[in-house]
Amino acid sequence: MDKKEENTEEQVVNPWEVSSSGGKIDYDKLIDKFGCQRFDQSLVDRVQRLTGRPPHVFLRRGVFFAHRDFNEILDAYERGEKFYLYTGRGPSSEALHLGHLIPFMFTKYLQDAFKVPLVIQLTDDEKCMWKNLSVEESQRLARENAKDIIACGFDITKTFIFSDFDYVGGAFYKNMVRVAKCVTYNKVVGIFGFTGEDHIGKVSFPPVQAVPSFPSSFPHLFSGKDNLRCLIPCAIDQDPYFRMTRDVAPRIGYHKPALIESSFFPALQGENGKMSASDPNSAIYVTDSGKVIKNKINKYAFSGGRESVELHRKLGANVEEYGAGRMLTGEVKQRLTQVLTELVERHQTARSAVTDEMVDAFMSVRPLPNMFN
Ligand code: TYM
Ligand code: TRP
Repeated sequence: MDKKEENTEEQVVNPWEVSSSGGKIDYDKLIDKFGCQRFDQSLVDRVQRLTGRPPHVFLRRGVFFAHRDFNEILDAYERGEKFYLYTGRGPSSEALHLGHLIPFMFTKYLQDAFKVPLVIQLTDDEKCMWKNLSVEESQRLARENAKDIIACGFDITKTFIFSDFDYVGGAFYKNMVRVAKCVTYNKVVGIFGFTGEDHIGKVSFPPVQAVPSFPSSFPHLFSGKDNLRCLIPCAIDQDPYFRMTRDVAPRIGYHKPALIESSFFPALQGENGKMSASDPNSAIYVTDSGKVIKNKINKYAFSGGRESVELHRKLGANVEEYGAGRMLTGEVKQRLTQVLTELVERHQTARSAVTDEMVDAFMSVRPLPNMFN
């Protein structure tokens, strides 16, 4: 699809833009358009049965609402075959925001529940090219972001975090070239909407995000395990990268990676956009103080409340007590402030315990001998 065509659509979801001119993002439509599968109750039940623990609240509440071949991961797991997890972060800001925490908190649960290894890609190269940061600044942000990620509680005996600037090369680079040879320029234009004005760094980036889906990109972890399957938790904005990856995988002799995909933590301004690091007023950062959180919520947060107290009491808004008209906007915002402040303060305590030595340890290229136990 070309750029022009895309702009006339009311709903745009890709790695760089999430917007919907027609109100709330319509996630059912996205499933149809992207061709993913719905994550239904039977899958939630199956996860519970196989892991012997209650499903994560993000599963129970449908935050992770879509998938690709997740059932195949579970089939394999049931036969006694393990898999590995792959997720990532593009270090574009000093700290993560609450939207970023969604895939990482969920990945931590998956790692604990299935007892599997995890690779986390920090795409410092991507943000250097898209955000016009210097190489050095992107690398510095990657290390800062790694601290927020480690603070989510990942198990160091099962987790490898890498920066593209440090790690790309060797077996990883060979896979990049195998992928690149299979993707025409027309194809990336179709998937990502690049134009003739975009520099060639952007055009050549997608294979970098594709190849952590293949176990042979990590010889220090998965040597001799070329058949190991990969599961990628992320928000649905990353789907274009993995549509491309899944298209190429069988042609170069690899399994297609499976995906489990979340909806967006909405922008404070409303559900027609995502909380985004490129718009600081849309987001609550894990570094924000209680006071800043309270101000942002009171000043920017869209509540769905009615224009007057009378109308609100009569018509109600769209959430339970509040929807029934028994709670007012001020009360809802106060409750939200309280919940988010507690979460952010817990995160800040965990992050302050993360040392530079721990970052080095998570990022060192090493075998993980007990990663499947
Ligand atoms: P990035 O840094 O933009 O986002 C990191 C992760 O957070 C998700 N995300 C959100 N989830 C819920 N609500 C939001 N408002 C929200 N905003 C962002 C993203 O979907 C992502 O899962 N190119 C990638 C980095 C990357 C990656 C990956 C991500 C490399 N390999 C594999 C996922 C899986 C990026 O810039 O993500
Ligand atoms: N381990 C190094 C550190 O001290 C970083 C590093 C160098 C690295 N080469 C690498 C990380 C290859 C991953 C892959 O942080």
